[in-house]
Parts: sequence; C-alpha cells; structure tokens
Amino acid sequence: MKISIKKILFIGLIIFLLMQLYQPARNIGFEQDITADFTKVYNVPKKVEIILRTSCYDCHSNNTNYPWYSYIQPARFLMESHIAAGKENLNFNEWGNYSSRKQNNKLDRIAKQIQSNEMPLASYTLIHKNATLSATQKKEVLDWINKIEDSL
Ligand code: HEC
Repeated sequence: MKISIKKILFIGLIIFLLMQLYQPARNIGFEQDITADFTKVYNVPKKVEIILRTSCYDCHSNNTNYPWYSYIQPARFLMESHIAAGKENLNFNEWGNYSSRKQNNKLDRIAKQIQSNEMPLASYTLIHKNATLSATQKKEVLDWINKIEDSL
C-alpha cells in the first residue's frame, strides 16, 4: 500500500480538528472570594504583587488570563493540566483559608521554587516572556519572603 504525503496530511488534519472538540471548563472564577487572597493576608509591596500576578497567578489562582492560542488544542490541554496541578499545590486566591502551618510551609516552598528557577515553569516562560524573573525580581520576592518569615 502506498501512503502518500497527502493522505498523511489529511489524516493529521482530521485528528487536529477532532482534538478541537475537547474544550474543558476554563479557570475563570468571577465570584472568587478575594478576601482570602495572598495580597489581603500580608502587606505585600506593589512590586512583589505585580511579580506574583504576572508570573504565578495564571497557574496558581482561580483566574487565568487566557491567550488566544489557548483556544487551540493541544495547547489548551497542556495549559489546563498545568493549571489544575498548579492550583492544587498552591492557590494564591485561597491563601487565607490555609492553616498557618501550611502557609509557613508554602512560603518556604515558594522561595525554594523561585531560587532554584523551577517556577515559573520553563514551558510557560518560553511563551510568556514577561513572566521570566530577572535576578532583581527574584531578589525582591525572596527578600520580602525572608522578612515575612522572620516576623511570623
Ligand atoms: C504554567 C503554570 C505555572 C506557573 C506560571 C507557575 N507554576 Fe508553580 N506549579 C505549577 C505546577 C504544574 C505545579 C505542580 C508541581 C509540578 O508539577 O512541578 C506547581 C507547583 C508549585 C509549588 C508547589 C511546590 C511544592 O512542593 O509545594 C510552588 C510553591 C509553586 N509552584 C510556586 C510558583 C511560583 C512562586 C510561581 C511564580 C513565580 C509559579 N509557581 C508559577 C505550575 C505553574
């Protein structure tokens, strides 16, 4: 049997179109309880808040800013799985509902993730260039976390 390039492209196109049918619910919580948000629990400096909102909130809150390509599979699928796993581990919108033990633990984890360049995820900063943390931004967040931890 001869398999032509045309046939392969055609089958690829059908698979691509079928994938578009899978559109899971979006992470957009319009009626979220913002009183529990990280920025309401601590007195977060504006600079640090902007860094967290720009580089972390897409995966670690109840509201994601969806770019246009997020409507296209398989990007959508990857994004949604990152958001689900990210939120489960850490949700800045629900920080106030965490026990103080969990908060302390997560503050530590946040510092470690930033220090070791594990967060924000590399697959994310590849596309969201503005989410990449500069050395100065990293220091700003880490210094502030240290200060908060000392005051607890
Ligand atoms: C593209 C999505 C995405 C972005 C953006 C992102 N994360 Fe994550 N984060 C995840 C996922 C997914 C996990 C689950 C663990 C894993 O797969 O590594 C996670 C886990 C974590 C954890 C939990 C680790 C633990 O051991 O408890 C912390 C803390 C964290 N992220 C902090 C951050 C911080 C701080 C930022 C911003 C500087 C950030 N993340 C940005 C997706 C993301």
